Parts: sequence; C-alpha cells; structure tokens
Amino acid sequence: MSLDHLFDRNVAWAQAKTRDDPNFFSRMAGQQSPKLLWIGCSDSRVTANDVLGLDPGEVFVQRNIANVVHTSDMNLLAVMEYAIEILEVEHIIVCGHYGCGGIQRALGDDRSALVDHWLQPIVMLYRKHRPLFDAITDPIARVNRMCELNIEMQVRRVASIPTVENAWVRGQKLHLHGWIYGVEDGLLRDLGPTIASAAERDALVSIDDRVRQPAEPTSGVRLHAIEAFGRAGAGNCCER
Ligand code: CO
Repeated sequence: MSLDHLFDRNVAWAQAKTRDDPNFFSRMAGQQSPKLLWIGCSDSRVTANDVLGLDPGEVFVQRNIANVVHTSDMNLLAVMEYAIEILEVEHIIVCGHYGCGGIQRALGDDRSALVDHWLQPIVMLYRKHRPLFDAITDPIARVNRMCELNIEMQVRRVASIPTVENAWVRGQKLHLHGWIYGVEDGLLRDLGPTIASAAERDALVSIDDRVRQPAEPTSGVRLHAIEAFGRAGAGNCCER
C-alpha cells in the first residue's frame, strides 16, 4: 500500500508553516538550539512537541518503551552527551504517562519477549514491593502508581550518569525533572523529583521509601490512583 497520502500531508504542513511564518524553514536550516531534552515513552500518543505546544527546533528528544534510563544504553548516553555538552540544554525532563503499556507489561507474568529485558528494573521494583502494589485492588490504579514510581526512579538514574555529574562539577546549569502525562486529558503533571545538583540528588529519599510513602505531585492534577495507593500503602507500611 502506498504512503503517498503522508507525502501529501507533509507538503500541506510545510506550506502552512511557510504561510504563517515565511522565514520558518530558513531559520530551521541554521543550527538548532533547544534548551530542553525530553526522555519519554515511545507511545504514539505522547509526542513531546505536541504536548508541550512547541515548534520544531525547541526540544531534543529521546524516546523508548516506558521511558527507561539504562545507564549502559549507548543511544541514551550519546543523546545526553550531545544535549548537555554541545547543545547545553538547561532542563532534562523524564516524562512518562498514565496507562503505559510497558508498565502494564512489567506488572504481568509474561517474560517471553525482548522488551522484558528492557523493563527489568521496573519488574524488580514491583517484585520487591509486591504486597504494597497488590494491595491496590484496582488494576488501573496499580499500573498508574507504578507509572509514577518509574518516572521517579528514572530521574534518579539520569542524575547518576557521569555526563550529568560532570556538568554540575563544571558549574553548568542543568535541572532534572520528573513529569507525567495523562493520555485521557492531555495534561502534564509535575511529579518530581526536581534535581539541580549532586547534593540535591544525594539528599533524596530512596525509591524504596517512595514506594512506601507516595508524595503528592508538586503541581497539576492529582489522580485518585495516588490516594488509593496512599491508603493501601499506609496499612501495609505499619505492619512491617
Ligand atoms: Co508508555
């Protein structure tokens, strides 16, 4: 089947861009200078530029299944090095989303695919704290709670990558953020942690503590999933 319709749409898009802003592409042809790096999920519904309302040239992007940060991932490391050392981005945003299929997979039993290797850190966090997660009876709320925790875990991992540490040692301004996106309402929520130095990273409570004591997102809309987990988590916590 031909994909000509995509080329037609592309031509229409390029013409519309030029109509609104005649210099748009000549400006783009110069060097890009985005100040944001977005590490997000590959999910087709969570496209960085669209949800941020930004034009081409405004955000550098790396996406993978369930926005996992593996500190041996050559793709991610090269993207981060370029973003930090050449583009000198000032913010790195790890953005996951509620209802993530990768997270759903990590909370299931099937371990037959390559993606299960990729999701292994999430699987291990789940197994380590299984009673707390299983106490959340609503399966959607359980997945959503892990979606949040996964983001918090991955921000901590970004903060441990030497490229980031070296930028802080040089005195370069670099802020890390954990955000979550609601596919059902189109809204971003600031979940945290927000980290701007090695000292701030080292002062964070461990991800295991965060599993036991979920914190409120610092801004944005709060979902019922968190409240459900808070009640379940508090009960189990006191029995330990
Ligand atoms: Co996803």
